[in-house]
Amino acid sequence: MSAVKIGFYGHVRQYHNLKSEIDQAIHEVLESGSYVMGPKVSQFEKELAAYCKMKEAVGNNSGTDALLLPLIAWGIGKGDEVITTSNTFFATAEAVWLAGATPVFVDIDPATCNIDPNLIEAAITPKTKAIIPVHLYGQCAQMRQISKIAKAHNLLVLEDNAQALGARGDDFAIGELSNAVATSFIIQKNLGCFGDGGALVTNDSDLATKMRKLRNHGSLKRSHHSIGYNSRLDDLHAAVLSVKLKQLDKWSDRRRTIAGMYDKALKGTSLKLPVALPGYRHVYHLYVVETPKRDALQAYLQEKGITALTHYPIAIHQQEGYPWGQDARISGSLAHSEKSAAQVLSLPMYPELTDEEVQITIAAIVAWDKTNG
Ligand SMILES: Cc1ncc(COP(=O)(O)O)c(C=O)c1O
Repeated sequence: MSAVKIGFYGHVRQYHNLKSEIDQAIHEVLESGSYVMGPKVSQFEKELAAYCKMKEAVGNNSGTDALLLPLIAWGIGKGDEVITTSNTFFATAEAVWLAGATPVFVDIDPATCNIDPNLIEAAITPKTKAIIPVHLYGQCAQMRQISKIAKAHNLLVLEDNAQALGARGDDFAIGELSNAVATSFIIQKNLGCFGDGGALVTNDSDLATKMRKLRNHGSLKRSHHSIGYNSRLDDLHAAVLSVKLKQLDKWSDRRRTIAGMYDKALKGTSLKLPVALPGYRHVYHLYVVETPKRDALQAYLQEKGITALTHYPIAIHQQEGYPWGQDARISGSLAHSEKSAAQVLSLPMYPELTDEEVQITIAAIVAWDKTNG
């Protein structure tokens, strides 16, 4: 057994670093008596919209609902197609299925693992209504090209920003080139609450109003309802998120520093390293390397006390039972998505990781690579 123990997440360290502020924020909510749709939620929504330089933010209970509810608000459902990738967390496509629509999967650019914009046009049919690009691992998809295609074909664009809050493109901001942006605050995200949470951020006030209604049983006014969902962000989570949002840029900078350390030390190894596009601000939600010997490297690191995980080892179209009696379409080949799924390994990456822990992880990988690479 190794004496080293380098975990995959820094949640508890993060809490300890902000303990007095977080405890105070929680205490205020508990004493206020306002736990659902209270002032902490509206305050955080304003802060989030300002952080994103967008007009409105609407809190939800999850990133999944932040993807699903705008599709419903737009009337996207049975018979409609939504273009996305298969190399993402399951919820991206799940939201499309839950809306009753058909996900259409196109392959990724193997360099960035984001949707390959050059393959989107071929996937468009008269049924296509929207594109959901995913800013995977913390790096923006190529939104300039995506938005150009969307405009030419009159498609809506919903950015899945669960992993990249605080990122930027080279000459564009998240939200600038789309209709809306969905984000997740599940604890492991770059901005995480102590449980589940999500939000939609948009400049479209009409969409924001529809979202506010849908998340609250179809109600904007007490006792007046149409069909909606129970999908609200709780005040306890909102209060914690307000505290943490102030740290987000500093945390992203630290993630970028750690990524720089990994990049420098691992560039001579056999591993495929993450590719940051020139001028993009990648916020490294995950630092994902690729090797055909992924399982062996993961097991070796675990033996050395270092936890590395896989995101995502089974592409959506490869999941057992796919597509569960639902409609789904694959456009062209998903060879790059499948190869990536078989080879990805996420190294420890969180702002609270110490330089020493990064160096220990690097040394273990370099030692493994000498005999196995
Ligand atoms: C890319 C992506 N989309 C959607 C989601 C769904 O978010 P949530 O877990 O908050 O529902 C996640 C994370 O869990 C994600 O990583």
